Amino acid sequence: MTTDSVTSVSHSVNVLFVCLGNICRSPTAEAVFRHYVDSAGLAEQVVVDSVGTAGYHIGAPSDSRAIEAAQRRGYDMSAIRARQVAIEDFEQFDYILAMDKANLQSLLAQCPEQHAHKLALFLSHGDTPQTNEVPDPYYGDGAGFETVLNLVESASQGLLQHIIDNPLQKS
Ligand code: 4NP
Repeated sequence: MTTDSVTSVSHSVNVLFVCLGNICRSPTAEAVFRHYVDSAGLAEQVVVDSVGTAGYHIGAPSDSRAIEAAQRRGYDMSAIRARQVAIEDFEQFDYILAMDKANLQSLLAQCPEQHAHKLALFLSHGDTPQTNEVPDPYYGDGAGFETVLNLVESASQGLLQHIIDNPLQKS
């Protein structure tokens, strides 16, 4: 995104990306969104993390295909390790953004009601009206990881602008 309109956000904002395994889509979103946050000079004010709704890959690095596709576009996923969503996440994070409807449903089933307003599809912030889900690339060919990056880049720009335009009211 262009950064010249960016000044600051008034409170720290905590953003959590969620997919199934936390080795393909949500860590890609974490790396891409963090890159935009850093470029906008907002690294001190925006916390970025990702989780899976499933625990299949806890502690594992991201899928090597995702790491390589992201690296080709200048995004670093090397330090990310998979973890599973925990009940504390619903309290800690302000934006909890699911990659697809199945994972959004899974989050809704676990989320305390007072935090349910934080849950949304990540692509609700994107500029891709043809789809509101990031397709799972895990069982497909390499092209799926490029599709993930295209969708994630679009939605990351929209999300950062949304955060800048809508300061959180925190006490
Ligand atoms: P992700 O992709 O949810 O984007 O991380 C997947 C990773 C692993 C599996 C499924 C989806 N799995 O079945 O192990």
